[in-house]
Amino acid sequence: MKEIPQIKKDKQGKRTFLVDGAPFVALSGELHNSSSSSLQYMDEHIWPALRPLHMNSVILPVAWESIEPEEGKFDFSLVDGLIAAARREQLRLIILWFGLWKNGNSTYIPGWVKKESSGVNARFFRARDGYGKPLGCISPFCHAAVTADAAAYKKLMEHIRAVDSTDRTVIAMQVENEIGVLGADRDYCTSAEKAFRQPVPKPVTDWFGVNGTWEEAFGRDGAEMMMAWQYASAVEQITSQGKSAYPLPMYVNAWLQQHPDRAGSYPCGGPIAKVKELWALAAPSVDAYAPDIYVNNFRAVCDEYATDGNPLFIPEVRATKDSASFLFYAVGRHDALCFAPFGIEDLFGRRTDEMGSDLLGVLNIGADAFQTEGAGQRLAAAYDIVGNMHTIIAEAHQAGKIHAFLEYHDAGTTIPLTKFDAQISYSGASESFFGGPGKQAGSAVAGGFIIEVSDDEFILCGSGYSVKFLPKPGIADQVGVLKKEEGHYKKDVWIPGRVLNGDEGYFIGLSDFPQVQRVSLYTYR
Ligand code: DGJ
Repeated sequence: MKEIPQIKKDKQGKRTFLVDGAPFVALSGELHNSSSSSLQYMDEHIWPALRPLHMNSVILPVAWESIEPEEGKFDFSLVDGLIAAARREQLRLIILWFGLWKNGNSTYIPGWVKKESSGVNARFFRARDGYGKPLGCISPFCHAAVTADAAAYKKLMEHIRAVDSTDRTVIAMQVENEIGVLGADRDYCTSAEKAFRQPVPKPVTDWFGVNGTWEEAFGRDGAEMMMAWQYASAVEQITSQGKSAYPLPMYVNAWLQQHPDRAGSYPCGGPIAKVKELWALAAPSVDAYAPDIYVNNFRAVCDEYATDGNPLFIPEVRATKDSASFLFYAVGRHDALCFAPFGIEDLFGRRTDEMGSDLLGVLNIGADAFQTEGAGQRLAAAYDIVGNMHTIIAEAHQAGKIHAFLEYHDAGTTIPLTKFDAQISYSGASESFFGGPGKQAGSAVAGGFIIEVSDDEFILCGSGYSVKFLPKPGIADQVGVLKKEEGHYKKDVWIPGRVLNGDEGYFIGLSDFPQVQRVSLYTYR
């Protein structure tokens, strides 16, 4: 029997994803919402489209309505079929629990729940806006609904444990999806009104040192803090029930705060960066808070989420030619546990799930997030690189010898290394002979990482940048290239290709396609 997957915290608070007892980074992709609702569709359209990508896992939904179509009667045939197919494809699974909440709505609840959600006194009552109108989601104040969801989720975890404790095909669970109230700045149902006027719960007072009502304690953010507390408390009930059956790693994802910026235009109460500390207080069973990154500034979102001991786990990111550079940054800078472009089946498959402009408008996602041209080949190459350098990357993180960078409206960056400074130029134009690799119109965002193998020897990964190694300020050395070679890693072993000391040797640069080079330097006067 393989060890159960876990996200383990060490003494420094760093979290590592362990699968089969060894550190793991999920080189993954999330499927469109409906793909995994049909095993036949998966076989015909999805699994074949994933094969060229060098993924080690795939993220797919299992909906409450599909496992409990009638109250108390469970059907796990879809789950079993998905697990069997993933084993055949040699992919691990991360399952999204589409329970009470999906994108601020309650679209995946079973019919029997939907039918009992009408009216303020309904068994499964809905959140309400400030005018008293019912919203798309069941209220997180509805104990009956949270209890029913938690019971179903527990059944799912019991089942996964029963069928998967030997193989451990399923390696993590996402609890719900992009939680929060959409279309109002908070829930105004009767219970919410009452809670809003009461003092904040004692753990909140103790932790944040605040008193009074939510508004008195948190001012303008009071309503959002109350919703975050309520959703997090509900998720704690669901997650802890699930973990009591089978304690896989469990995370919660977030629709990010973004323009137009007011809670309710993005789901109010979800684990956006400013409330994740409160979430962590209310939901200690949750292993990670995970950003869905469709905004342009990928770098800033990663930097914001990889704080306070939260590991970087990216279950959704725009699926474009830039994804490969995003991966290098996430892994190289933050030792990410998971990276997964959304709609991954589109990269090499027949596009059947066109994200139309109406839908993207509702989701507040820019159309450029789904321009997949060129994305598949680049991501496949990047997954091949990172997947075959796993130990090298992990050891470099341990030793503090890995340095990542990502272009975002800037020309480059300078990284102080042990013996040299590495001057990275994204355009490749200004600092190197012959203009560096040059940036073609339409090329991807530059990004990558440098690993210091020793003071004079480096591994360069990524694309679209050049490097000039400079002596430290005040040292009058000239820096020369001893050897520069291309190649690739296979299970952490370097397989050299060409030695690039001729015309290519004038500058150290990586072209627009993801690749690896090794460079060693010498100095002279
Ligand atoms: C974010 C959601 O979490 C996904 O389920 C999906 O709806 C995507 N948006 C679509 O872009």
